[in-house]
Amino acid sequence: MVGIFGCVLKDGNAAPVIYSALKRLEYRGYDSAGEATTHKNKLFVKKDKGRIDEIHTRHDLNDLPGRIGIGHVRWATHGAPLRENAHPHIDCNKQIAVVHNGIIENFTELKKELEDLGHIFKSKTDTEVIPHLIEENIKKGLPFIEATRETINRLEGSYAIAVVYVKEPDKIVCVQKESSLTIGVAENAAYPASDIPTFLPLTKRAVAVENQEFAIVSDGKYEIRKITDWSLVPREPKLIKWVPEKAEKLGYRHFMLKEIHDQPSSIHNTLRLQDQYLELMTAFLARTKEVFLVACGTSYHACLAASYMLSRLAFLSTHPVAASEFIEQQGRSISIDSTILAVSQSGETTDTLAAVEHARLHAATILGLTNAIGSTLTRVSRVYICPQSGPEVGVAATKTFTSQLCVLAQLALRLAKQRGKVSHTEMEWLEEKMDQIPDAVETIIQTQEEKIEQIARKYRDTEFFLFSGRGISLATALEGTLKLLETNYIPSMTFPAGEKEHGPIRLVEQGFPVVFICPRDETHKKIVNDIREMKDRGAPIIAIIEEGDEEIKALADDYIEIVKGMPEILSPILCVIPLQLFAYYMAVERELDPDRPRHLTKAVTVK
Ligand code: M6R
Repeated sequence: MVGIFGCVLKDGNAAPVIYSALKRLEYRGYDSAGEATTHKNKLFVKKDKGRIDEIHTRHDLNDLPGRIGIGHVRWATHGAPLRENAHPHIDCNKQIAVVHNGIIENFTELKKELEDLGHIFKSKTDTEVIPHLIEENIKKGLPFIEATRETINRLEGSYAIAVVYVKEPDKIVCVQKESSLTIGVAENAAYPASDIPTFLPLTKRAVAVENQEFAIVSDGKYEIRKITDWSLVPREPKLIKWVPEKAEKLGYRHFMLKEIHDQPSSIHNTLRLQDQYLELMTAFLARTKEVFLVACGTSYHACLAASYMLSRLAFLSTHPVAASEFIEQQGRSISIDSTILAVSQSGETTDTLAAVEHARLHAATILGLTNAIGSTLTRVSRVYICPQSGPEVGVAATKTFTSQLCVLAQLALRLAKQRGKVSHTEMEWLEEKMDQIPDAVETIIQTQEEKIEQIARKYRDTEFFLFSGRGISLATALEGTLKLLETNYIPSMTFPAGEKEHGPIRLVEQGFPVVFICPRDETHKKIVNDIREMKDRGAPIIAIIEEGDEEIKALADDYIEIVKGMPEILSPILCVIPLQLFAYYMAVERELDPDRPRHLTKAVTVK
């Protein structure tokens, strides 16, 4: 995720307005930033890697001439956080500048086509194809707006784009496809931006640019048209009543809640990852003798789920290991034949990096899955993948977990395909189901959130929780436990349901709820029996079930429904959503701050 901003003033200097707006956008990305303005037929660009204030100290971002300009904060997804990859990107003649949030899926083909026509590319980003395509269309004689429209017709993917052109210096042209864009409208100015808080100190009037719409923005004016048939869209600005503190969280009370709600879009974007990265990593997994999945905390739970995905789909047996135990447990057996897939939101967790370093010294192959391009993990990995979740502010990992699961599921699917382990029909079904995940997550949030809030109210004074599941749902249960533990400080424990007789059953009694994760997979029958047994001992049962699972509904004291018909290997992505919401609302009920749990930091960089 990144942030874009544009500024069209009737009079005055746009650069300081853009610089302040970028500071407000910084939560969306902070590995590089830049601005471009147009003035007297010339384009002025300042950009660099680093946080906004560092860049400002180096380049003075207030010092660009002109009343019109665009700006960008970046969280790298294509190309490392370097100056040349920072936005805005420009065409060969330095006349067109573009900022972009989203992914251009077919950029490799477009780039090749443009390079064959003589265009010189300076970056590794997908975005850079846009100014060059507009340039090419202008060369063919199209006016700026037509040239941009023609360009958009060539792009596959999702995007919010803002473009300036020196020869039409009175406007910014914007386009939105599956990526949020809103225009702040003032008396003598207009501000297209990724989100409302960016322009809130400048104006409280805002008009949304909706999916597949084009906007031409000039001082205090805007014109919105549908990309498809170019029809005019009449839309009046609305008054925004947010207070600044809420605005930063897009109207949500906490970052954790905002990030839970971000998931339909972060998953959607992650499912559009470039094929080449997935292919490459699959190739490494395919040829290795042994694979260790290494991570801490939530990322470790993603690894555990992945071990089920890889074994059940691709018949690949892997070793999920908590990074803090890796050297003790596996250290001596690591060799040139080993592959370590390290998973880390931050890419900086000390234990994970120590495990990776140990493996590297023993000539193992290192693969990385991290949310932070430019982190240490990306530097030491032979191949790395960055899910498209954007920066996560809440200490409790939520959207990064589901994005990690999506990447790991995609790898398992690819490997299964390569190894000929799934039939064509099954593969098509799995791919179809995968595409439905963002909508399924949205449905769970829309239909279950209120109910989960009520359940949290009912159990707010509970002193001890048990979580349980079978198969891949064990990973989900562990993650549900961790979410509750870290945000609520309530003692909680996970046990594999099949292990109950080996000890945990002793803890089951009246007043101690057991949360069961019960998708309708091969373990369902056994889970029903597990629930019965716990219920007989008087434990209240909270069950995460598929819609219409009457059998468990009849047994559970409280149940939360997820969309039915999802394949087993994808079920953690859906089942974890209610558990994240449950932990969040429990914290709210107990008057705790879920964004800042005591004694915890976002990245654990100490031993
Ligand atoms: O950045 P990482 O994914 O390497 O972090 C690992 C854990 O520290 C992290 O998942 C932690 O457990 C979270 N606070 C969980 O919500």
